[in-house]
Amino acid sequence: MTVLKGRVAVITGGSRGIGLAIAHAYRAAGAHVVLAARKADGLAAARAALEAVEAPGGVHTVVANAGEPDQAQSCVDETMARFGRLDILVNNAATNPYHGDLIDLDLPRAEKTVRVNQYGMLAWIRCAWKASMAEHGGAVVNIASVGGLIVDPHIGYYNATKAAMIHMTRQLAYELGPKARVNAIAPGLIKTELARAVWEVREPILTAKLPLRRLGTPEDVAHAAVFLASDASSWITGQTLVIDGGALALPIGVES
Ligand SMILES: NC(=O)c1ccc[n+]([C@@H]2O[C@H](COP(=O)([O-])OP(=O)(O)OC[C@H]3O[C@@H](n4cnc5c(N)ncnc54)[C@H](OP(=O)(O)O)[C@@H]3O)[C@@H](O)[C@H]2O)c1
Repeated sequence: MTVLKGRVAVITGGSRGIGLAIAHAYRAAGAHVVLAARKADGLAAARAALEAVEAPGGVHTVVANAGEPDQAQSCVDETMARFGRLDILVNNAATNPYHGDLIDLDLPRAEKTVRVNQYGMLAWIRCAWKASMAEHGGAVVNIASVGGLIVDPHIGYYNATKAAMIHMTRQLAYELGPKARVNAIAPGLIKTELARAVWEVREPILTAKLPLRRLGTPEDVAHAAVFLASDASSWITGQTLVIDGGALALPIGVES
């Protein structure tokens, strides 16, 4: 498959989990990938794993915190210097430092959550837009969450930032068209480190009621991220694609 042949993709949070699976899928589809994350050792391991698979596209890594706009700018500058273009941006990095009721939320953790998940998304899009997409076009894929569409007793504030991502996806689709397309993916529970505490001890219970009877894998999300970045989705913008094994399709009163 070469639907992304020669394209250049920046993926925040690209060193493991969903971001790394997207990087593998993009390379397999012919793209060059630039991975951004906070820890150099994780990036080095991800790079080695990617380069162990034969593919025409290059791999570049940049240490960058998704919540720091100057680091977003440096990553985009490095991408432009190395590859001369930036066609695809995947806003995948997120943080979730607060579990509990909204009413008890403290300002430092609220600010960190907004800074990475919500303002960070906008900052990276602005850098990519100004550096390349405003002139040459491109596709943005924002990794939101089904949490942005439902009420949850534990992670309401994180979910509020995901809801904001979904809304900003529509707003930016309006503002950046026709040059750039902006879409989002809302994953359900995916078996990654981030969600290990949720799925590891309860997997049989969690899957029993899901219409598709299994939890998600990073690859389930990656396949959709290839579609939304490719010309196969060239008339789709402002949308959020739910990938949840059918969790949101359950009747009221049946918990997933
Ligand atoms: N797993 C799920 O069930 C699930 C469900 C719905 C939505 N999502 C969303 O999917 C996305 C990826 O989650 P995941 O499950 O793949 O998580 P993960 O396995 O924990 O991986 C997170 C990645 O993001 C990087 N990262 C974390 N904070 C960062 C920051 N401030 N700046 C830059 N990079 C950062 C991590 O590397 P460093 O630690 O080195 O920075 C790592 O590469 C997130 O947006 C998450 O909200 C996940």
